[in-house]
Amino acid sequence: MKKVILVAGATGNLGMRIVSYLSQKNAEIRVIVRSESEAQKIKMLETLGADIYITDHWNLSELTIACQGVSCVISALAGLREVIIDAQKVLLDAAIAANVPRFIPSDFSLDFTKFFYGENRNLDLRREFHEYLDKTSISSTSIMNGAFTDMLTDQMPLILIKQKLILYWGDADHKWGFTTIDNTAEYTANVAMDAVTPRYLRIAGDLISPREVKIVANEVFGPKFRLFRPGGKWLLGMLIKITRKLSPGKNELYPAWQGMQYMHNLIDERANIDKTDNDRYPEIQWKTVKDVLTDYQSKTL
Ligand SMILES: NC(=O)c1ccc[n+]([C@@H]2O[C@H](COP(=O)([O-])OP(=O)(O)OC[C@H]3O[C@@H](n4cnc5c(N)ncnc54)[C@H](OP(=O)(O)O)[C@@H]3O)[C@@H](O)[C@H]2O)c1
Repeated sequence: MKKVILVAGATGNLGMRIVSYLSQKNAEIRVIVRSESEAQKIKMLETLGADIYITDHWNLSELTIACQGVSCVISALAGLREVIIDAQKVLLDAAIAANVPRFIPSDFSLDFTKFFYGENRNLDLRREFHEYLDKTSISSTSIMNGAFTDMLTDQMPLILIKQKLILYWGDADHKWGFTTIDNTAEYTANVAMDAVTPRYLRIAGDLISPREVKIVANEVFGPKFRLFRPGGKWLLGMLIKITRKLSPGKNELYPAWQGMQYMHNLIDERANIDKTDNDRYPEIQWKTVKDVLTDYQSKTL
């Protein structure tokens, strides 16, 4: 009998790819979408073979019906409190009410278990959700993947290609953890299909320092990239405070200061990620930072 896997947030960037990998694994896929979700994305999910559950209210009774017979619920929701706490709690309660044995929360981040409240607003919401999750009887697995490697070619200002600079804070030899969105999605699909998984799985497609990124950038884009260090953790921390004060963006998921908080966490030695859990699914081909930059370079030629 096929395993039934339910994905919430399936219309999203990560969620859609998880569904795609699940379809290659012969899972029976169920997705919960909202009535206001984009029609074209719902069509894509149908094409991938997913059964679509449209909810109008995202309440316990609607979601419990969607969770009947499911062996694992994956949450790939993204948002602030009303999503990571409120919407995820309803989803979790529904999974428990329907006797779903396993739940994968929408973490997909650096290992925030090593940090404290106040060090990253978005990760604090995940920690708060964990406090609720860990008191329930459901078996859960969080996937800690560091930063999405894909961000290196758009949102994350580490490699400034035109200026030929590697802009970093802190220590040039501190290794950062990166995993592509695709690798994270494939890994998550595997975790969902597994019978038993530990509470935390820590993965990285690459562990690389700014100094090593410079070497890779030289190889991919040509010489001569230079390292540029505006300051250390303390200065970055001050800039975060000032930027947040001037431009709070309270209702935005990724205001400028929030991106800086992620950077502040990444350069912290507590964010070190080992790759021990990569080998759990040997069929996954892990993409390095060099692979991602090479793909980008070949597409922009
Ligand atoms: N480690 C990293 O570097 C990194 C970077 C980016 C994201 N992430 C994480 O990856 C996960 C997925 O992010 P993503 O970029 O794929 O997000 P995304 O593309 O913005 O998709 C968000 C999903 O959440 C759904 N959603 C939003 N608000 C909702 C609500 N109130 N009720 C129900 N559904 C709601 C959306 O549904 P609709 O289509 O209906 O709006 C969509 O399916 C998140 O945990 C995110 O924080 C990690």
